[in-house]
Amino acid sequence: MSALTSMPPAPLAVPADVAIALTGVEKRYGTHRALAGIDLAVGRGERIVICGPSGSGKSTLIRCINGLERHDGGRIVVNGIELTSEDGTVQDVRQEVGMVFQHFNLFPHLNALENCMLAPRLNRGLSRAQAETLAMKHLERVHLADHVRKYPGRLSGGQQQRVAIARALCMEPRILLFDEPTSALDPEWSTRCSASWRNWRRAV
Ligand SMILES: Nc1ncnc2c1ncn2[C@@H]1O[C@H](COP(=O)(O)OP(=O)(O)OP(=O)(O)O)[C@@H](O)[C@H]1O
Ligand SMILES: [Mg+2]
Repeated sequence: MSALTSMPPAPLAVPADVAIALTGVEKRYGTHRALAGIDLAVGRGERIVICGPSGSGKSTLIRCINGLERHDGGRIVVNGIELTSEDGTVQDVRQEVGMVFQHFNLFPHLNALENCMLAPRLNRGLSRAQAETLAMKHLERVHLADHVRKYPGRLSGGQQQRVAIARALCMEPRILLFDEPTSALDPEWSTRCSASWRNWRRAV
């Protein structure tokens, strides 16, 4: 390979007011093309909803945006950081991005409080006391103060989903990705949680 062909591509020009930019993003699983030439620009402070039938690639798309899946083609820039195969870019992006997973993905061996404290302690360097105060604040906001010592297996589906929402908010990320975040919630909680992340947006 010549020196010329091994040069990295020029940085993608992304306007300063764009938080997430995708151009021509491709993702394949074997022969299945889950994402085909996706272009997307999400502005700072903007909230967007991606709708589509089951299996159309919604989860795949947001998993690519926080680097949980490696895209096979096209380019993804998150808060000015391009996701590439270079070491460290995924970690850099994850500092900026919180995610509520479709299937919650709580750590089964940690109780609700510990699930919320873990990332702020590991990634933000908070002390145990600071992380606990923060976690309690967000767990109280989703009315789980009485359940903080319970392990996920002893929480209802809706309670687990609220822990997952509190856990994402505890990282106070600049960008939040929600994958069907109210699927296990009743209409009342669905409305309350939507209000909660509207407030979060105002706070950043
Ligand atoms: N790890 C994987 N290995 C192989 N195929 C996968 C994998 N993850 C997803 N797929 C396939 O990619 C396609 C898109 O899946 P994805 O989970 O992104 O869909 P979705 O739009 O989120 O669906 P749903 O609304 O049911 O959650 C599906 O056909 C799925 O079977
Ligand atoms: Mg999905």
